[in-house]
Amino acid sequence: MDRALSPIDRAKFLAGKRGAAFVETGMRVGLGTGSTAAWMIRCLGERVREEGLRITGVPTSERTAALAREAGIPLATLDEAKWLDLTIDGADEFDAGLCLIKGGGGALLREKIVATASDQMIVIADAAKEVATLGAFPLPVEVVPFGWRTTQALIEEALINVDVMGRSVTPRMAGEVPFVTDGGNFILDLDLKRIGNPRQLSLMLNQIPGVVENGLFIDICDMVVIGHADGRVELRDLGSGSATQERLELADDDNIFAEIGD
Ligand code: 5RP
Repeated sequence: MDRALSPIDRAKFLAGKRGAAFVETGMRVGLGTGSTAAWMIRCLGERVREEGLRITGVPTSERTAALAREAGIPLATLDEAKWLDLTIDGADEFDAGLCLIKGGGGALLREKIVATASDQMIVIADAAKEVATLGAFPLPVEVVPFGWRTTQALIEEALINVDVMGRSVTPRMAGEVPFVTDGGNFILDLDLKRIGNPRQLSLMLNQIPGVVENGLFIDICDMVVIGHADGRVELRDLGSGSATQERLELADDDNIFAEIGD
């Protein structure tokens, strides 16, 4: 295991494995997107195969749907499942109040819809994702392709009046062409450096015509599972205020996941 994984992948794997342990039989589970979520999905698939765990997964992206199918997790759409017991997903940043920046993988819209339709959201992350103030990671904003340059200009204008340190807005590219989300939209990445008032910024962005959704998750996440490369896993529960630490031993056969890429 140690030989197969880099320290960052080891931390992500530990967070994903511990996150997967929160799932109980009978649950409808939102499946996040990204490399940490990919570890969690593999671990969940292993529990389905080996423990007979009976769950229904609702994927937050086409990429996650393909991975979950491969892992043997039965899937449903959100409309079929209607409401979920739990969503487990990664994050690009989280702060002490478990406000998040998400969307580094471009799946923020489905991720926010799925997490909001869940009794509980658990974020799984390596320790580097923890910040005192959100904003070092560029904030993804999903916009409709129609008139997106105008939407960009409106966002830039609106940013003049909010408490942020940077104001550059960059369209996300996939090579020479704009990156397209699963919903057929574009992403603008806002390099804000420091977000003084995430709640106000989120409301402001979502009022601009052409904006579909932004990557600030506020009052959505209930718990964070933080993986460390040295084997420690921290659990922080916002509701109870509890913070506990565990150590996970990785079995030799855990390296069956060593080839995961995302
Ligand atoms: C995808 C996301 C991811 O959860 C976020 O980018 C974290 O990814 P990773 O686990 O690969 O670091 O929001 O839209």
